[in-house]
Amino acid sequence: MDTRKPLIAGNWKMFKTVAEAVQTASKLASLCQDLTSDSDREVMIAPPFTALSSVHGVIEGAASIHMGAQNMFYEKQGAYTGEISPDMVLSTGCTHVIIGHSERRQYFNEQDETINQKTAAAIKAGLVPILCVGETEKQRESEETFSVLDKQIRIGLKGFSVDELELLVLAYEPVWAIGTGKTATSGQAQEVHSFLRNQLEKNYSNVLANSVRILYGGSVKPDNISELMNMPDVDGVLVGGASLSADTFSQIVHY
Ligand code: PGA
Repeated sequence: MDTRKPLIAGNWKMFKTVAEAVQTASKLASLCQDLTSDSDREVMIAPPFTALSSVHGVIEGAASIHMGAQNMFYEKQGAYTGEISPDMVLSTGCTHVIIGHSERRQYFNEQDETINQKTAAAIKAGLVPILCVGETEKQRESEETFSVLDKQIRIGLKGFSVDELELLVLAYEPVWAIGTGKTATSGQAQEVHSFLRNQLEKNYSNVLANSVRILYGGSVKPDNISELMNMPDVDGVLVGGASLSADTFSQIVHY
């Protein structure tokens, strides 16, 4: 049974002041008025931490626009200067959190073990974890794609029961396709998504494998979204650059 409602997620990264974020979110909310909670798709935006509360005020009435954080720390509270806890994220109105984005892995040295702790903290807090995985260009060229992804999900999801993974969303983001204008072909995306689903089935259960949404990310644009969404194992997208404009992102949402 396929119950995977497509999720179109936008990651604003380190862009937009509070005022800019509010402006984009309100425009998006008005462009997405046709979407209701029983629509055939869900939308999520991940503004920077500083804009979360204000953006929440703007999208609160928009039934199918959810809000996520781009990262968080796994500890509940404490002397961790500069970090943000799961409860803090929740208290802004977030329902989702992006974990293990390749930019976090690459520039902030996040390891699979830390990502596993963050995923656990998200699940415990009742936040939907969007766990990002993906290979670099070098790894793809040396045919390590599947072994890299297997390791990322094996360690990233270590220690969870099938029930705990009910909310999990995976995002396959080949590092070579992020912000480069190079998109994986729909065939390349489908091949990896189907591999990831098989791993979930092997490691957990058939029911879980069929219910976890697997998003594709990396240079998604209005003109390639439909082809990607036509693939049987692509259940949505995680959009960076093209989510910064409400108009462009709305075109992607309405693929
Ligand atoms: P991009 O970023 O759409 O700008 O390639 C995707 C992402 O990092 O999630």
